[in-house]
Amino acid sequence: MVDRNGWGRDRPVPTGSPRSPPDWFAQQANVTDGGIYETFERDWPDCWERAADLLSWDEAYDTVLNDGNAPFYEWFAGGKLNAAYNCVDRHLEAGRKNHVAIRWEGKHGERETYTYRDLYVEVNEFAAALRGLGVEEDDVVTIYLPMIPALPIAMLACARIGAPHSVVFAGLSADALATRMDAAESEYLITCDGYYRRGDAFNQKSKADNARLSVDRDVETVVVDRLGDDLPHVLGDDERDYHDLCREYAGETVEPVSRDAEDMLFLMYTSGTTGEPKGVVHTTGGYLAHVAWTSHAVLDITPEDTYWCAADIGWITGHSYIVYGPLALGTTTVMYEGTPDYPDRDRLWEIVDRNAVDVFYTAPTAIRAFMKWGSDYPDRHDLSSLRLLGSVGEPISPRPWNWYREHIGRGDCPVVDTWWQTETGAVIVSTLPGIDEMKPGAAGPGLPGIDVAVVDEAGDPVEPGQAGYLTIGRPWPGMARTLYDGDDRFRSEYWDRFSDPDRDEWVYFSGDAAAIDEDGYITVLGRIDDVINVSGRRLSTMEIESAITDVSGVAEAAVVGRSSEVNGTDIYAYVSTAGGHDPDARVRQRIVDSIESTIGPIAKPSEIVFTPELPKTRSGKIMRRLLEDIANGEDLGDTSSLRNPEIVGEIQAESGSE
Ligand code: PRX
Repeated sequence: MVDRNGWGRDRPVPTGSPRSPPDWFAQQANVTDGGIYETFERDWPDCWERAADLLSWDEAYDTVLNDGNAPFYEWFAGGKLNAAYNCVDRHLEAGRKNHVAIRWEGKHGERETYTYRDLYVEVNEFAAALRGLGVEEDDVVTIYLPMIPALPIAMLACARIGAPHSVVFAGLSADALATRMDAAESEYLITCDGYYRRGDAFNQKSKADNARLSVDRDVETVVVDRLGDDLPHVLGDDERDYHDLCREYAGETVEPVSRDAEDMLFLMYTSGTTGEPKGVVHTTGGYLAHVAWTSHAVLDITPEDTYWCAADIGWITGHSYIVYGPLALGTTTVMYEGTPDYPDRDRLWEIVDRNAVDVFYTAPTAIRAFMKWGSDYPDRHDLSSLRLLGSVGEPISPRPWNWYREHIGRGDCPVVDTWWQTETGAVIVSTLPGIDEMKPGAAGPGLPGIDVAVVDEAGDPVEPGQAGYLTIGRPWPGMARTLYDGDDRFRSEYWDRFSDPDRDEWVYFSGDAAAIDEDGYITVLGRIDDVINVSGRRLSTMEIESAITDVSGVAEAAVVGRSSEVNGTDIYAYVSTAGGHDPDARVRQRIVDSIESTIGPIAKPSEIVFTPELPKTRSGKIMRRLLEDIANGEDLGDTSSLRNPEIVGEIQAESGSE
């Protein structure tokens, strides 16, 4: 297998010594039956009823899976339910109204606690307010909020009235927000005045204002006052204050709208292989069943737990495992506004200690930072409440895996490494913590009922120990149903590569390379498309390149990933300018500004290398793979077949990697 990142080369797949789940854990785990894999195979697809049974349905579904129009599958068709009812009301009805639903930890030490009853009241009031603003069923509501309680409340309020939400990560730029609002034809925006970044008040509303100027339609806007006097703001005619609105609708309730299982619950934009972000469509029944099931089976959450996923709700991890999964199970979910190192590097452990967190879920990039900061920080706190640790978003190699288990999990907690994607909706590959042996460095086998395979170019499974393409061969409930931009793009992005429509064989391609061992454990190696994963965030190299080439004076740009100890990957940009490789400093600044304004600060390169030309093949294609090797200081091999081999030495000198 040959691809840009060279995963086909003989690289040993690093896994550490396997570890069995400790007895104390296995005895209390939610899933303890080792026969579950066989049961799911035998009963497939009806096995997924177990997931659906975790939910409350207004009307029972007729069929578990309808595969008549593959790859546009339907799960639990004919069933009706409401996601907000499942995440809120039914827990009140079960006599758990005083149970804590959300524990919010603010940046500056503020704390707020929402019981299920509180959540019910606030979700209802805001749902009534949205209706009052004119939001109807199926209208897409864009939410552009940082990690404050209004964010999950707004999501659940949308779900209650059957209006799909499209949450745009608060750190994305005005342009990115406008593009997503236009693509989703969204006429409603919920945002805030600003939020605290490190110690400073950061203006979010000015970004939202700028976005609205370029959105094609009129936008009704609700503004949450997060900063009060720290950032006074003035509301325009078509803007309403969130708290005023909620006061206006105080005490009102809204009947949850009974949605078809296949009605859209939300849209989530993510980076794809072209410059245009993809609007991934998730529906109500299958998504909710899959996130609830995996919260139960993989994260081992029980209603009595205090559970903390330290991600941002602006991405899929937060949707599935801060909001929908844990709340569907009626647990206490912790929501943290700040960063791990503010005011000090023990901030997360202080929160775990004070809240007696049972299950903690974070990303390898954070774990690598904790490891670098040293074990003194966690050692300052009592972390004995922890029962299970999770990892998501990037490959985790054995060293940080072991460090995490040792220093956060007292050498005793199981660690689940969960592989999944925005498009899969919920976890696909992971060990089941009460049953399976853990192998540090390998995520695990496909979950019960999930048919993952690592295949070669022809779609045939590779031998154990070999690398290939990570694919999923059968549908699963949480899968994306389509892309908002169209069914054709959905097929071409994910299905065309390995499916055989003539034989009605459908295989989903994840865009990842992976290796598989003799036990079916998957080690994910990384993306093989034009997507890079920086600190667990997915960015399109083409989107960054087009922001760079928008700058006047720039001729061409190529963006590649460079392995980085903490971030996993750093962004390296190779830029050729009209006047050669010595531009004035303003070009560099304009490039940074352009990236920040079209995407956001998260896409800022850690290195910009100017060169008179980019290395090209004889046919004129930019050799990104070669640039990646240069960035990573790798051996370049024979470059004589390039059209301009002489440029390689110059670029190496500029990159400091000669
Ligand atoms: O490359 C894989 C990586 O993150 C990609 C999905 O990114 P996104 O849609 O933003 O969702 C992130 C959170 C689920 C995947 O294609 N990835 C995710 N989890 C893992 C991972 N790579 C290795 N190991 C993981 N556990």
